[in-house]
Amino acid sequence: MARINTHYDKLAAGYLFPEIGRRTRAFLETHPGVEVMRLGIGNTTEPLTPEVIRGLHEGVDRLAHTDTYSGYGDDSLGEPELREAIAKRYADYGADLDPEEVCIGDGAKADSANIQSIFAVDNIVAVQDPAYPVYVDSNVIAGRTGPASDGQYEGLVYMPCTEENDFFPEVPAGHVDLIYLCSPNNPTGAVAAKAQLEAFVDYARTQRAVIVFDSAYAAFIQDPDLPRSIYEVDGAKECAIEINSFSKEAGFTGVRLGWTIVPKALTCEGSEPGRLHGLWSRRQNTMFNGASNIVQQGGLAALSETGRKECRRLVEYYMRNARVIREGLERIGITVYGGVNAPYIWMRTPGGMSSWDFFDKLLNQAHVVGTPGSGFGPSGEGYFRLSAFGHAQDIERAVASIRHNLTL
Ligand SMILES: Cc1ncc(COP(=O)(O)O)c(C=O)c1O
Repeated sequence: MARINTHYDKLAAGYLFPEIGRRTRAFLETHPGVEVMRLGIGNTTEPLTPEVIRGLHEGVDRLAHTDTYSGYGDDSLGEPELREAIAKRYADYGADLDPEEVCIGDGAKADSANIQSIFAVDNIVAVQDPAYPVYVDSNVIAGRTGPASDGQYEGLVYMPCTEENDFFPEVPAGHVDLIYLCSPNNPTGAVAAKAQLEAFVDYARTQRAVIVFDSAYAAFIQDPDLPRSIYEVDGAKECAIEINSFSKEAGFTGVRLGWTIVPKALTCEGSEPGRLHGLWSRRQNTMFNGASNIVQQGGLAALSETGRKECRRLVEYYMRNARVIREGLERIGITVYGGVNAPYIWMRTPGGMSSWDFFDKLLNQAHVVGTPGSGFGPSGEGYFRLSAFGHAQDIERAVASIRHNLTL
């Protein structure tokens, strides 16, 4: 008798983006002809750069000839050339990585959801609150939590990110086993200082815990003093996994390519160095066929000198949008965070409105769609996220509409 994984039933409460879609559609049905401006989703809008396009074409052309054709990779962990290029990039951050520690995947979403599967089901998990929902949902599905009540899952340790702590948490007061950190953070746009990451690395080493560090937005950091990788911290290779992606910095949201670093030095309770690296390799070789060979050529091109220059310009484009949103909101007296070293603006809802009430108000008055903060965790209530991913002229129109039509 087959039975379903009933842990999925616990998820129903937090269905953020479908609910945004439902409310937007309902608004459009009752307001035909009105143009809605979407600043809700972190989806890239600008074309791939010329160097990346060249790399992708090269990837296609290679498949057209017997002598350069390739089928399955030797393993599912990526082309050696690409793994090497990524390891080299970490050398710029002062981190010394063996290219074999870099495991190529099809993006940070899948890897950040799947990484929990190499850890025991009774591990205690801590997450930033608010956070990218995948960390929580993947652990709920795996059975590491009880049911949700008041927006919190039983058994999960929430690390509140609030105005009081500049949206980056203290280390947990008690013991936890797995810690998800995201810096620059989605949704708050906050970036951890090096000393804050050092505190987590110290904690993890003392507790024999493992940090899963999501740096998908590292390329958006403008301040040269802020860490772009957790491996800038001494000792992090013994306690941290890092996940990153080509999605946002190179516009690969549809192309799909990312990487996960599982250092060979990484250990945890009952696991000697090399074991966790081996488990992730095993997991990927069993469950994943490897990123497309064409796409990997595109990734390699993005990491070339020309590619990096072009991608920096892409990041600058979105960061200009972030400044337009931030300054536009500040000008009408809204308290805003983020948007300086990250492509997300995190705003306090005016007058203490609930996140969803503000969603409706912004849609009705300014015809702008954003993302209610409560969808990212209980501490997101009373906040709202606006995304800088969009065409500059659309962002400018949306901000102008907010400034002229939103009553505070
Ligand atoms: C924090 C964070 N991690 C990972 C992802 C997923 O990225 P990818 O497109 O590489 O799967 C996102 C996407 O929005 C994100 O915000």
